[in-house]
Amino acid sequence: MYLIKKICCIGAGYVGGPTMAVFAKNCPDIEIEVVDINQIRINAWNSDDLTKLPVFEPGLPQIIKKVRGRNLNFSTNVSNSIREADMVFISVNTPIKEKGVGAGETSDLRWVESCARQISEIAEGHTIVVEKSTLPVKTAQTIKDILFSSNYQTSEKSFSVLSNPEFLSEGTAIRDLEEPDRVLIGGDDDEAIKALNDIYLNWIPQEKLIFTNLWSSELSKLTANAFLAQRISSINSISAICEVTGADIKDVSFAIGKDNRIGSKFLKSGPGFGGSCFKKDILNLVYLAKFYGLNEVAGYWRKVIEINSWQQKRIYEIVVEKLFGNLVDKKIAILGFSFKENTNDTRESPAISICRNLINEGAFLSINDEKVTEEDIEKSLKKDNFVYGFNKNEPCWEFQSNLYSAFENAHAVIILTSWDKYKAIDWERVSLSVKSPFWVFDTRSILDIKNIQDLGFNFWQLGFGNNN
Ligand code: NAD
Ligand code: UGA
Repeated sequence: MYLIKKICCIGAGYVGGPTMAVFAKNCPDIEIEVVDINQIRINAWNSDDLTKLPVFEPGLPQIIKKVRGRNLNFSTNVSNSIREADMVFISVNTPIKEKGVGAGETSDLRWVESCARQISEIAEGHTIVVEKSTLPVKTAQTIKDILFSSNYQTSEKSFSVLSNPEFLSEGTAIRDLEEPDRVLIGGDDDEAIKALNDIYLNWIPQEKLIFTNLWSSELSKLTANAFLAQRISSINSISAICEVTGADIKDVSFAIGKDNRIGSKFLKSGPGFGGSCFKKDILNLVYLAKFYGLNEVAGYWRKVIEINSWQQKRIYEIVVEKLFGNLVDKKIAILGFSFKENTNDTRESPAISICRNLINEGAFLSINDEKVTEEDIEKSLKKDNFVYGFNKNEPCWEFQSNLYSAFENAHAVIILTSWDKYKAIDWERVSLSVKSPFWVFDTRSILDIKNIQDLGFNFWQLGFGNNN
């Protein structure tokens, strides 16, 4: 029987930080250390000012306040933490490869491999290595090969490898971790499985724990994300049909969601799915299918991504068309830059491609977001890169922390993220400072159409068949 007294989690990102905070809260007898090579990130996790944590997640600061310094610590001393740990979670980034074999299609595993090598070298006694990162199927074999074949093997050193994919969503991570629909553990070592199972039993009922072999566990994670993304592409494809036929996507979603077999969740049409994982995980599935010669399967899943890109492109094209085919010398307020509400994450945010295209047409953007910083927007919309912008010597966008200032002298507004604040905009106040005619583009279906139209604004809502 393995007794787990110390846990090391490698990777202090959107998964490692919140996940280990919830572990620490529910397992006061286990000492947990989250380690990262990024000193700035670790400093932010250790910040006295809890509004400066690197991840914005509702409920997270309260937990950090309770457990940090008690049984949760953040550090850059990766080696030391691995040496002392009985269980090591690998929770590092696994983005799509940019160069070489499989570029643009499969995950770059350099960070996972480097963790495996470091664990192999440094770990002492028996160490249970847990894949928390989302990984291509069969990565556990790579990890095992590295762990077991190292030059550093001694008779006192041994390893078990488990897969324990994470299903949390950003913005609701704490709730998802506290009350998950299920926890999946894949592996072939019963004692190691029991050790991880017992940790979860501190707050999760046994019936929610599911056990499979390693490959089913790895594949289930990719498949879950692919199915979720597929629902979004499906409803987004129908949103376009609504617009041309006079139907309303909100009614259609509601009507089909009432069927228990379909269910009501993940049926909100919008500017396409963003986030660091959906596209990456589907691309991994496509790569896997192609690798095994399953070309029809690969083509099927690739379409989910194509519809997603098309949705973003068609929204931008509609904006151009409604604004008389010309955006030069026009100011557009952009409300929301994060890929969804309640997160500061901008990875793969639909706002990025839509804003780039608008700037390319010559528009000036005034961008507001509740949690994304100007520096983060700059990383995605580097002002220097806009050589194709029309007004080459003028800035092509500004960050506007004051929501109402973003509207001043604007020709249009586009709502891209459904932050609560945008649902309660004082449109009368807005009407005093904008140009006329003024267009409101609501890509998240959060506004009351009548309210807007009564003020004389032009209004376009995604998937609404009676747009003017
Ligand atoms: P992230 O980029 O926010 O964090 C990863 C961290 O790992 C970074 O801070 C990086 O510096 C660190 N790191 C990389 N190599 C390291 C090494 N060798 N030693 C120490 N630290 C190292 O990524 P994330 O969003 O937390 O995602 C992590 C994994 O979890 C990915 O595989 C992702 O697909 C998966 N996942 C993410 C989410 C999500 O909502 N973001 C949800 C479920 C699963
Ligand atoms: C998603 C999954 O929901 C998690 O289960 C998974 O663990 C995670 O990916 C991951 O592996 O990274 P996340 O990307 O954080 O979580 O957020 P979601 O709520 O899934 O939203 C993803 C995107 O889809 C967002 O851009 C969101 O606006 C969009 N979306 C979501 C819609 O357009 N419509 C919907 O009905 C739901």
